[in-house]
Amino acid sequence: MTTHTASGQPALDNTDRRKSAALARRETQPDEGAHWVRGAALARQILRSKASLQGGAGADLVTFKNPEHAPVFFLDGEDHLEKRRKTNHFLSAKAITDQHQATMENCTARLLAQFQRDGSAKLEDLSFTLAIEVVGEILGLTDSNEDARARRIQKVLKASIANAGDSALSRFTLNLARAYRVGIFFLADVRPAIKARKLKPRDDAISFYLSEGYSNPAIVIECLTYGTAGMLTTREFIIMAAWYLFEDEALRTRFLDADSKGQLAILMEILRLEPVAAMIHRRVNEPVEGVGDGPLPPGEKYGIDIRAANVDESVTGACPFAVDPERAKRQQETGRYLSFGDGPHTCPGWQVALHETRVFLAALFRVPGVTLEREPDMSWNAQLGSYELRNADITCERAAQA
Ligand code: HEM
Repeated sequence: MTTHTASGQPALDNTDRRKSAALARRETQPDEGAHWVRGAALARQILRSKASLQGGAGADLVTFKNPEHAPVFFLDGEDHLEKRRKTNHFLSAKAITDQHQATMENCTARLLAQFQRDGSAKLEDLSFTLAIEVVGEILGLTDSNEDARARRIQKVLKASIANAGDSALSRFTLNLARAYRVGIFFLADVRPAIKARKLKPRDDAISFYLSEGYSNPAIVIECLTYGTAGMLTTREFIIMAAWYLFEDEALRTRFLDADSKGQLAILMEILRLEPVAAMIHRRVNEPVEGVGDGPLPPGEKYGIDIRAANVDESVTGACPFAVDPERAKRQQETGRYLSFGDGPHTCPGWQVALHETRVFLAALFRVPGVTLEREPDMSWNAQLGSYELRNADITCERAAQA
């Protein structure tokens, strides 16, 4: 039960209502041997430092002979910069307005028309289909049957982030399953897209990779990187943001009445409190002060606690637990805080993620009779270090059948 403040807006008091906080607290800790960084200033300093190297997802253990074949996440320095430069064009604010917004709106309209015909849906199915289509269009994965593609992408992403366990047999089995899923994904989705773009290039990432001479494996690696980074994360965030808005009528009304900037400010506040990525890691090749008593030597690894940094009053100002869309302006912040990381590896898809969430939720909450019938179950995905929300059943008035 929420307590209403004088403003009539429950989200504006400082009660800690974060839904994923207790679960994240139980499940989140730095990698073995890494120092825990909770403060926003030190977190930003480390993430922005030229002496910092990616330290997450086993980055210390992998090497790539050819940077072209390495996912952008695992690169550092010049190779990283070069790869980021090449793909930024597809994720910019201009690309969103000129190109992706139409995909977001069309896909949303289609999903919600079906929702109204059925009268019920699982929110996670809608948000995942949207996330797959939006990132798919950015990449250029558009030359296979939509529904079958969504199923294959779900399977290939599940296999690529699954945990192999300790035994050699389970590792062997998982590698086999991964190779199989990636093979199917390549044959059914990536190859037709490549073929079509060799004949007629378009303004998408696969056309660009081809013009740069990328090999087929390199293109598949890019598709899987963007799939994991952009599809799985956005699916969860849309459900979380919808949950907040379903629950809080005043916040929902404010969201629906706001212009696009105001809507994004509300979404960024929800993400600040419920960041999908809980912790990211860096190895820092310079001394670091501010963890423990004295400076730590070069070469140490740090776990950046995004959740803690996002409620650090030195950057949020007073009442860090309130959903306060005016906060960022007051604090002279962008509103992203640490939710999308910071520095060279900061999320290149952050504007895409926020816009697609905004477009979808603005339309969802205008569907007559839309109701959250069942609050989502929450679990933890240890491979991604993120919450997962499932069985978010929504209903609405059924549209008359034509
Ligand atoms: C709500 C949704 C999203 C969240 C919360 C999120 C969060 C993050 C975070 C925290 C990082 C930094 C990782 C690190 O520094 O170690 C990151 C990196 C990345 N994100 Fe996102 N992301 C989201 C959506 C997207 C989308 C839609 C795309 C693509 C269209 C995307 C593509 C990427 C890529 C490629 C990287 C790696 C960048 C690099 O290492 O240089 N993300 N994301």
